[in-house]
Amino acid sequence: MMLDISEIKVIEHDVLIVGAGGAGLSAAIESSSQGMSTGIVMKSLLGKAHTVMAEGGMAAALGNVDARDHWKIHFRDTMRGGKFLNVWRMAELHAKIAPERVRLLEEWGAVFDRTKSGLINQRNFGGHRYPRLAHVGDRTGLEMIRTLQDYGIHQGIEAYMECTALDLLKNEKDEVCGVVCMWRETGTFTIFKAKSIIFATGGGGKAWEVTSNSWEYTGDGYALAYEAGAELMDLEFSQFHPTGMVWPLSVKGILVTESVRGEGGILLNSEGTRFMFNYIPERFRSETADTEEEAARWLAGDLNARRPPELLTRDVVARAINEEVKAGRGSKHGGAYLNIATQRSAEDIKKKLPSMYHQFKVLAELDITKEPMEVGPTCHYFMGGIRVDADTTMSTVPGLFACGECAAGMHGANRLGGNSLSDLLVFGYLAGKNASEYAKNKVTHSEIDEEQASKIIRNATDILNRESGANPYLLHEQLENNMQINVGIIRSKDELEKGISQLEKIKDDYKNVKAKGTSQFNPGWHEALGLRNLLITAEAVARAAILREESRGAHTRSDFPGEQKEWLNYNIISRKGEDGNMELIKVERPIPNTELERIAESSIEDLEREIEQERKQITN
Ligand code: FUM
Repeated sequence: MMLDISEIKVIEHDVLIVGAGGAGLSAAIESSSQGMSTGIVMKSLLGKAHTVMAEGGMAAALGNVDARDHWKIHFRDTMRGGKFLNVWRMAELHAKIAPERVRLLEEWGAVFDRTKSGLINQRNFGGHRYPRLAHVGDRTGLEMIRTLQDYGIHQGIEAYMECTALDLLKNEKDEVCGVVCMWRETGTFTIFKAKSIIFATGGGGKAWEVTSNSWEYTGDGYALAYEAGAELMDLEFSQFHPTGMVWPLSVKGILVTESVRGEGGILLNSEGTRFMFNYIPERFRSETADTEEEAARWLAGDLNARRPPELLTRDVVARAINEEVKAGRGSKHGGAYLNIATQRSAEDIKKKLPSMYHQFKVLAELDITKEPMEVGPTCHYFMGGIRVDADTTMSTVPGLFACGECAAGMHGANRLGGNSLSDLLVFGYLAGKNASEYAKNKVTHSEIDEEQASKIIRNATDILNRESGANPYLLHEQLENNMQINVGIIRSKDELEKGISQLEKIKDDYKNVKAKGTSQFNPGWHEALGLRNLLITAEAVARAAILREESRGAHTRSDFPGEQKEWLNYNIISRKGEDGNMELIKVERPIPNTELERIAESSIEDLEREIEQERKQITN
């Protein structure tokens, strides 16, 4: 029986954004500045987003600390970090546009740390050739959100808090035209009509047991887009940040910012060995210090010294810690020791890393100015996501745009730390701009298809109305456990197959999931609704991981070690097949622009010379 949806409230906007982290807010600011009526729906509270977990800074070639920096070098670092699987055009746009967006953020009120001459200060981070991360101590993501929300609200965007997007609505032309949402407090529904919709929903880290993500990150954007017929790309690349807290258990997974290493922190095993010297990959050898002496010169500020191995890319550091633990050289609670106390004065540590100082004092009763921290890998970020056009950010479904972590392509097989915040600024802006253009071409809103809306609401309320069924919390626990064990940092065919068969079993049980209680603020119901999205996300990750028979960036296959040249030519697409099941296909990547290819493959010395010559020509 179809529901009578005439009683359901309808709210109209030109552009509707789902997700209010850095990408969503950037998109909303741009859309409203284009004169569009702009709404932003979020399932949590304004200001609470995973953006705050990018603590160390936003990467942009401002050249404030080392004037040699340039967009070409940032681009080259990003491509190398992503193991050349990045969408070339996205990495180019990002490197070129990031500096102006960071300066704009400053104009909007972000209070960055300063260099002695008063410029925005920049720090070192893994995989970045120069100090490149504009930062605010170790609270950069927080400052970004604060600035964007302040600016956006005063510009007139409408914010809808604690409002969960359930599924998208499409018109007869197969364009996206609305979304059905549920208010978490009352359990009532609202239909948002929009001429274009931007997803900025972040990732799906809650599929794993050990994660830096909080409760909101259930892959909603991936699943809603997938259900609407969009393509997902390269979901196998899930990033494990090397340094999450490992002890006490109550805080396991909480992020320990890479800035600790950016400020000179070193990694030690239980034997006191600085083990990262043993894990320098060939590709990065010429740019990485391989002796304590050279690393010490870098720490003392010698601009010509190579970066220490702790600043290798995240995939390399996470695997190294994993190896040390496996070899029996792990820390007391199964991680590695991260020591900043021997590298910097207590005063410097408190000034540059105030949140880390506070975090360890309060949560682990440990003074990081005196003792080493215990750290280990934690699921942090998705490089894969909704497949989008690089310039417009539109997905494969007309009218649906995506930006930030929920969009694929920018980071390839592995993201460099700090490239996330600048990605949010750059692609949030581009999504806002292009979704506005799209909306301007539509005179009216589409009519809502009542059958679609009714089905979405029924799917949600069935979870409350069935007599009995599986407990959503227990299913979520099974999912986390399965992903942690079978779809973790190091993967193999056997484990992935086991993982997929367990996922199938959880999916089966989910068909009968039951939340007890009423629709008013019911966390069990919310858990069950998010779980559908997590299951779609987890399945796409596991199936793509089994298909990619190589090790590249964050995706490591013990049965297929090393990068395989032919795999560089493919992306993996997951989409909903005609029969309702997930189908995966290998698609050929477009041939890169030859100039971009030349830049990414140049030696650093050649590229630096070229930039110097270009600059000389401009000044002459
Ligand atoms: O370690 C960090 O501060 C995280 C940064 C990022 O993910 O970009």
